[in-house]
Amino acid sequence: MDTWRTAIVDAGPDHIRVRGHDVLDLMRHATFTDVIFLLHHDRLPSPGERRLMDAILVGVADHGAGAPSCAAARLAASGNRQSPAAAIAAGVLTIGDEHGGAGSGCMELIIAGLEQARRDGVSLEAVADRNVADATAAKTRLPGFGHRVHSTIDPRVDVLFTLAHDAGVAGDGIRFVRALEIAIARRIKPIPLNIDGALAAILTDLGLPAMAGKLIFIVGRVAGLSAEVLEEYAREKPMRIKIPVQYDGVPPVKNGQ
Ligand SMILES: CC(C)(COP(=O)(O)OP(=O)(O)OC[C@H]1O[C@@H](n2cnc3c(N)ncnc32)[C@H](O)[C@@H]1OP(=O)(O)O)[C@@H](O)C(=O)NCCC(=O)NCCS
Repeated sequence: MDTWRTAIVDAGPDHIRVRGHDVLDLMRHATFTDVIFLLHHDRLPSPGERRLMDAILVGVADHGAGAPSCAAARLAASGNRQSPAAAIAAGVLTIGDEHGGAGSGCMELIIAGLEQARRDGVSLEAVADRNVADATAAKTRLPGFGHRVHSTIDPRVDVLFTLAHDAGVAGDGIRFVRALEIAIARRIKPIPLNIDGALAAILTDLGLPAMAGKLIFIVGRVAGLSAEVLEEYAREKPMRIKIPVQYDGVPPVKNGQ
């Protein structure tokens, strides 16, 4: 069998190193957020970056039992009492472009936008305006904007952007999503940047690839799913979730007709 290649962990009988750092030192001195950063990046975070990444993970950890990922995990736990792993996996499987994963699409938009501005020598504001005009003409939604609950402002965004400024991380990614927000308000209507869009701008400014927009959300949300599943098992009866369903298909078919 061919040897697998990896630059993440080197594990042997007398050592475990994460990107070169001895895991025993990390256990003594690092936080879990440091290690999440280290695993996905190629270095440990600065103190400001640690605070920022921690805030992202806290912000996405849970959004109530009715959020699609939490509801799916509870439904699976309600029907399958033997496998918390299956219930958590069910929750993770709901994460996509519409729920929790819009950060990846938003990062693709930002990365392409920054590249276009550099290549064509035009302002970020001009590129953002063109992106919104194109999305309006194509009747598509801009990932990272709008929220079912926080329809006027997502309060988590300002906290993250303030921490990003404090950490010296805020850069063109944040400038670009703010330019998109202004262009959206002018061309469509005021639609607030949501936490997926904020996370996307920050992860771009940290130099991570677009897929990180989904992955970092998943890492944070698994903590919430774990608690949701634990509570479902501890408090509720098996099969307690009954979803009201109204049949509106063909009426009963008589034999032979
Ligand atoms: C989150 C979302 C599903 C909420 O949708 P919603 O409840 O229908 O949003 P609202 O009622 O506030 O606004 C609806 C109108 O604004 C427009 N709109 C909402 N979000 C938009 C977006 N991201 N881009 C462009 N237009 C948008 C819709 O086209 C709609 O117009 P219409 O009624 O003429 O079709 C939606 O904003 C969306 O798809 N956002 C992009 C994906 C995303 O970022 N998801 C992560 C959410 S945390």
